Amino acid sequence: MAFPIVRHRRLRQSAAMRNLMRETVLTANDFIYPIFVTYGTNIREEIGSMPGVYHLSMDLLEAEIRDIVSLGIQAIMLFGVPDHKDAEGSSAYDPNGIVQEATRAIKGWAPELIVMADTCLCQFTDHGHCGVVHVHEATGTAVVDNDLSLALLVRTAVSQAEAGADVIAPSNMMDGFVAAIRDGLDEAGFTHIPILSYSVKYASSFYGPFREAAHSTPQFGDRKTYQMDPANSREALREAESDVVEGADMLMVKPALAYLDVVRQLKESFDLPVVAYNVSGEYSMVKAASANGWIDEKNVVLETLTGMKRAGADMIITYHAKDASRWLRGEE
Ligand code: PBG
Repeated sequence: MAFPIVRHRRLRQSAAMRNLMRETVLTANDFIYPIFVTYGTNIREEIGSMPGVYHLSMDLLEAEIRDIVSLGIQAIMLFGVPDHKDAEGSSAYDPNGIVQEATRAIKGWAPELIVMADTCLCQFTDHGHCGVVHVHEATGTAVVDNDLSLALLVRTAVSQAEAGADVIAPSNMMDGFVAAIRDGLDEAGFTHIPILSYSVKYASSFYGPFREAAHSTPQFGDRKTYQMDPANSREALREAESDVVEGADMLMVKPALAYLDVVRQLKESFDLPVVAYNVSGEYSMVKAASANGWIDEKNVVLETLTGMKRAGADMIITYHAKDASRWLRGEE
């Protein structure tokens, strides 16, 4: 009998050998944890489709922040659920808006925790779109007006930086948003604040649970005129390229799971850090299957996050961050 010429199993035969050979190692430093802040007191309302994720009122936020820090998580992505919506999303750039207030409070409790502010209008507009809706006089068609939206997004970003946000993360997918926000931040004296651009954001059905959580479902139409077609990856390179030229400091791909090829392409095409957003629908699927006893939650989550890192993500925005950090420390 001829012996196999190559024996892959030699390097897999013990845990120690496998540890030595491991190419990708996940740590709590990789995670960015999204949190939803709301008005009121004593509110800790679980989001139906996202077990373990809550709307938190400001008075309960401090304990949550201390918990996050104690788990070794370095960064959060802050989303606000406002009490007031209008056509221009004015509570997004209100200096005393929910995100601004929460940012100030969090930086007071945990100055070293990186607060990333999601810069978008959709949670704050009554129509639920990420920009301002403009009805063309001639045709009567309603469009999300790119350039009118930019001005409001710049105001939002500057107000977030003024409140103490460490990173501005624009997720609106208007053209030119990185350049506009960079300019606005610089003018306002925030030359040191990095921009994490939601560069490649697909018009995805995986955002469903988030929209429930953030009350940000569009009231008419969809987001396909500004978010990307899931079928395209060369277009993703064009989107990322323009953000690089406009001065983005980090590039995001969102969602993550169905787009790991895009994560890899961005990683190979650009030298900027790549961030994968493990979105709400991806989280909900894992939670639902594990609640049914169909999969092992811990192992599936760690495998999934490792896969995102292996694909090229330098950081992962994930609702699993707290659990994963605990598991990585060997706790249950
Ligand atoms: C706001 C925004 C969305 C998400 C993050 N920022 C929703 C959307 O574009 O509809 C989705 C996050 C998730 O699904 O976890 N534009």
